[in-house]
Amino acid sequence: MPAVVETSVPEAKLLARGKVRDIYDFGDKLLFVATDRISAYDVILNQPIADKGKVLHQISRFWFDWIQERGIVGNHLLTDDVDRYPEELRRHREQLEGRSALVHRADMLPVECVARGYITGSGWREYQQTGEVCGIPLPAGLRECSKLPEPIFTPATKATTGHDENISFERASEILGTSVAEKVRDLTLRLYREAAEYAAERGILIADTKFEFGIFDGEIILCDEVLTPDSSRFWPKDEYAPGRGQPSFDKQYVRDWLDEAGWDHEPPPPDLPDDVVAGSRARYLEILEILSGRGLD
Ligand SMILES: Nc1ncnc2c1ncn2[C@@H]1O[C@H](COP(=O)(O)OP(=O)(O)O)[C@@H](O)[C@H]1O
Ligand SMILES: [Mg+2]
Repeated sequence: MPAVVETSVPEAKLLARGKVRDIYDFGDKLLFVATDRISAYDVILNQPIADKGKVLHQISRFWFDWIQERGIVGNHLLTDDVDRYPEELRRHREQLEGRSALVHRADMLPVECVARGYITGSGWREYQQTGEVCGIPLPAGLRECSKLPEPIFTPATKATTGHDENISFERASEILGTSVAEKVRDLTLRLYREAAEYAAERGILIADTKFEFGIFDGEIILCDEVLTPDSSRFWPKDEYAPGRGQPSFDKQYVRDWLDEAGWDHEPPPPDLPDDVVAGSRARYLEILEILSGRGLD
C-alpha cells in the first residue's frame, strides 16, 4: 500500500489537519486519522513513512486498552472498527482502516502533560543552563540522558504556532486551576511509571512521554495519541549509557539525521534519503511489535 499523506473524505467536514492527523467533524464525535506524515522540530517533512500512521494508531490503541484494563483513566476512543463508522465513511475503508478511530470530542486542556524519567532533549538543555527543569531543582552532576532520582512532571503549553514552551507546575495551575492541574500531574506520573515498568520488562526504556487530556462529560479523559514513538522517547535498554545521546526507536533517529545534515529547523526541511526513510519505518514497526507483541493488523 502506498503511504497515506493526506486523506480525502469529501462527505465529511475536515476540521483540522494537524502535523500528523487529519480530523473530521461529526459534531460530538471526531474521526481521527493518523496519516503517514512525519514531523520533526514541528515541521512536516517532505517524505512520508509508509504505514507510520497505522503503527501510531495501533500502539495508541494497545495502550488505551492496557490503561482501561488497569482502570487508571478513561479515554476518548469510541471505535476503530470501520464497519461501525457512519455509512458514508465505510466506502473510504482503504484510507481509514487500521489508522483511524471515532473519538469523543473533548475540550482539550491547553497544557501538554509530560513525564520525564531521564534527562534529555529540552529538559537537558534547560538543566545545563539553570540546574532545573520546569522549575524543579535537580541534583548537580547529571549527565546527558541520566536517569532522574524520581520521574518528574514537566508541563508545556501547546503553542498554536512554533514550538511548545516548558512551564512550571505553578503556571500550569494558573491555566488549569489547581485541582485539575494536580489531577493531570498525578495521572501523568502514574501512567508513566506503570507504562515504563511494562516497557522495561520488554527491553525498552521510556525516557519521557507526553499525554494530552481533555474534559468530556465533566470528566478528565485521556485523548490524542498515547505512548507512541511520536509522543515519547524509546531507548533500547541494553544499549543505554548516560553521558551521550541514545540510539532510539522514536523520531530521534530522524532528528539525528536532520541535525547531521545541518538543518536549522526552519522550513523547508531537507529531503530524507531513502535509507533514512526505510530505517525510520523499520524502527516504527519494531517498536509496535515489542510493545504490543504483534505486527500491523
Ligand atoms: N478527543 C479529542 N477531542 C478534541 N481534540 C483532540 C482530541 N484528541 C486530540 N485532539 C487534538 O487533535 C490534534 C491531533 O492532531 P495532530 O496531528 O497530532 O496535531 P498537532 O500537530 O497539534 O500535534 C491535536 O491538536 C490534539 O490536541
Ligand atoms: Mg500531535
